[in-house]
Amino acid sequence: MHLHCVLTLLALFGIPVSECLQCFNCQNINDPQSCTGQLECLDNQSCFVQTVHSGNEVLYNMGCQNNQLCSSLPVDHSGIIGRSVQTRQQNRCHDCCSTDYCQKEQPCAQREVDGQWGSWTAWSLCTSHCNQTRNRACDKPSPLHGGRDCPGLKAQAQVCITSSCLVADCSDLLRLNATLASGVYRITTPLTHSKLQVYCDMETDGGGWTVFQKRFNGSVDFYRNFSEYENGFGFVDGEHWLGLKYLHEMASLGSYQLRLDIVRSNGSKGFDVYDNFILGPGPNYTFHIGSRLRFSGCRSLFEGSSFSPNDQSFTTYDHNYSRSINCADRFHGAWWYNMCFNFNANGLYDPGIYNPKAMAYNDNVGLSATTLMFKRI
Ligand SMILES: *[C@@H]1O[C@H](CO)[C@@H](O)[C@H](O)[C@H]1NC(C)=O
Ligand SMILES: *[C@@H]1O[C@H](CO)[C@@H](O)[C@H](O)[C@H]1NC(C)=O
Ligand SMILES: *[C@@H]1O[C@H](CO)[C@@H](O)[C@H](O)[C@H]1NC(C)=O
Ligand SMILES: *[C@@H]1O[C@H](CO)[C@@H](O)[C@H](O)[C@H]1NC(C)=O
Ligand SMILES: *[C@@H]1O[C@H](CO)[C@@H](O)[C@H](O)[C@H]1NC(C)=O
Ligand SMILES: *[C@@H]1O[C@H](CO)[C@@H](O)[C@H](O)[C@H]1NC(C)=O
Ligand SMILES: *[C@@H]1O[C@H](CO)[C@@H](O)[C@H](O)[C@H]1NC(C)=O
Ligand SMILES: *[C@@H]1O[C@H](CO)[C@@H](O)[C@H](O)[C@H]1NC(C)=O
Repeated sequence: MHLHCVLTLLALFGIPVSECLQCFNCQNINDPQSCTGQLECLDNQSCFVQTVHSGNEVLYNMGCQNNQLCSSLPVDHSGIIGRSVQTRQQNRCHDCCSTDYCQKEQPCAQREVDGQWGSWTAWSLCTSHCNQTRNRACDKPSPLHGGRDCPGLKAQAQVCITSSCLVADCSDLLRLNATLASGVYRITTPLTHSKLQVYCDMETDGGGWTVFQKRFNGSVDFYRNFSEYENGFGFVDGEHWLGLKYLHEMASLGSYQLRLDIVRSNGSKGFDVYDNFILGPGPNYTFHIGSRLRFSGCRSLFEGSSFSPNDQSFTTYDHNYSRSINCADRFHGAWWYNMCFNFNANGLYDPGIYNPKAMAYNDNVGLSATTLMFKRI
């Protein structure tokens, strides 16, 4: 009781009020009213009184009890302070004694209470920008009487993880599931959000490659007009060209590598990898590559400066951006022709034959297979 007064006086003089609860502290006494010992409880303790039957005698124990044990000890029904296990309070403000056995601390209503977060809401549906958000409120409880606000964010956003959203290319797919096999997958282009089927090479060179040109048996005619090169043609699981307008969307928003693979008619293979691949917007669809990173069994796309496709616009027979003659018409192809080419990837399918119109790389002997693909790094 005396301590209580001291605390109240301190409060009047503006000194912070102790958070501690003062409890009577006696063991084996005959009458709870006769207890005089006192104890300062910890933050997570409350006062208790326990009745002990010893023969014909009834004795009392009093003291501080851990809040976590409230209601789990054989104590008097009204003698344990703090809430039941089911409704135990989350913050530091505990119920005070309901009897005179111990002193009352400052009423809860005046104590400072720090805010605590409620739980997060469920993630929202994916927005058109392929993100989703969730929120939480600082109201379990809200801060009171100058208590601190909840620390941290009250809203979060993340990229949606669904097969149809923000899977912009095969490298995204592989990031979502590292065990995917090569094959045809559906993606959503990042700018116009077109749904598209693409062939993903998940094995070569670490996988995650989006194929935009594939030829291996000459079943598809590659001598096509500009509109067809813009929109794509062929069979996504067979020979095909992806379409410049999609390729631009998929290879203009980050850092990409370009890889080409060739197979000669005698079975020998070659590949070539470049960094900093970018395809500009139409109608030029300007092709750009940076340095040559890895290669084997073939010469370079930079070979012969007036033949290199680097920084050239796309030419078809009906859309001539080439620098000398109409190279597409002359060499039966479609390409980022310069004056004219070192790689006629979309030329005539004529494996093993010397032919200036043939699908060939750095010579004029027809290849039996080509693949062009890119991946986001
Ligand atoms: C009670 O609080 C004390 C000090 O604040 C701490 O050391 C102890 O672990 C807490 N006990 C429980 C059960 O939370
Ligand atoms: C999420 O999408 C909304 C539009 O749906 C957009 O305003 C917001 O900037 C996007 N947030 C992020 C982090 O991308
Ligand atoms: C990842 O891909 C494999 C092979 O297609 C599939 O069996 C597995 O369920 C996928 N895992 C997830 C998390 O989608
Ligand atoms: C391009 O070729 C396709 C298929 O042969 C044809 O339908 C289309 O009209 C052609 N476009 C132009 C502009 O010639
Ligand atoms: C070429 O390959 C495709 C797809 O594998 C197949 O459907 C087609 O019959 C083949 N054509 C020739 C001429 O071999
Ligand atoms: C295949 O042809 C290429 C180019 O003519 C040549 O360099 C290579 O040695 C040949 N490979 C085989 C296995 O004959
Ligand atoms: C497109 O190509 C033409 C012909 O090469 C050129 O004159 C023009 O500047 C190019 N436009 C852009 C935006 O690169
Ligand atoms: C193709 O365009 C180039 C200039 O961009 C020009 O020199 C050449 O004559 C054109 N060829 C044809 C066949 O129009």
